[in-house]
Amino acid sequence: MEALGIDIGGTGIKGAPVNTVTGQLLTERYRLPTPQPATPEAMTETVHQIVEYFDWKGPVGAGFPAIIHQGVAKSAANIDPSWIGRDVRAMFEDACGCPVTVLNDADAAGTAEVRFGAGAGRDGVVLVLTLGTGIGSALFTDGHLVPNTEFGHIEIGGKVAETRAADSAREREELSWKKWARRLDRYLDRLVFYLSPEMIIIGGGVSRKHEKFLPLLTIDAPIEPAQLRNQAGIIGAAAAAI
Ligand code: BGC
Repeated sequence: MEALGIDIGGTGIKGAPVNTVTGQLLTERYRLPTPQPATPEAMTETVHQIVEYFDWKGPVGAGFPAIIHQGVAKSAANIDPSWIGRDVRAMFEDACGCPVTVLNDADAAGTAEVRFGAGAGRDGVVLVLTLGTGIGSALFTDGHLVPNTEFGHIEIGGKVAETRAADSAREREELSWKKWARRLDRYLDRLVFYLSPEMIIIGGGVSRKHEKFLPLLTIDAPIEPAQLRNQAGIIGAAAAAI
């Protein structure tokens, strides 16, 4: 089975055809910058360009950085607010002429990690967090996804967690690994209290540098870096399309 997976983020939109049985990319991925402002029309055009680049006619899966309910965007933390209430699936289908499945971007990345990566074969509660522009979350029980959890938006000390503990906060505020790890630790400690996960998987681009911050965490739960790294969103979106 093959599907085109597209990972839509705050800074880049990436796609590649994927073998959804093995979780392998079939070609190099193709990346375009996320248009700014990230309006529905501009982003839909970028998705269209990716579908055209691969001359793709089959099923498409797209991970989108918002709450997605039956194809419709219900939030817009790091994209243009005019997305709220728009039917993302219908817009992408009209532009691309292929059947499209849309799901939350972290749910897509989490699906890939639980099927093919760090969480493969793990039962119980598994929490996948993507640390990037925002913080995305994907919650699984025995491999089943509880969609649209938004744990990046819990408040800590009166502040939305992702504004303090996302990788973008580390970069924006030029935080040392130690300082950022302290924030992350406080955030994760709260999630561990709420969810008692068997395992936490840390994804997003910064997971490549996991040895800089994972050893500094003190939380009482097994924590591991994502294995599929920046391909997880593409692979999980493609898997969701089949
Ligand atoms: C959004 C989530 C998204 C996450 C990662 C958050 O700001 O609310 O829906 O999964 O960023 O992109």
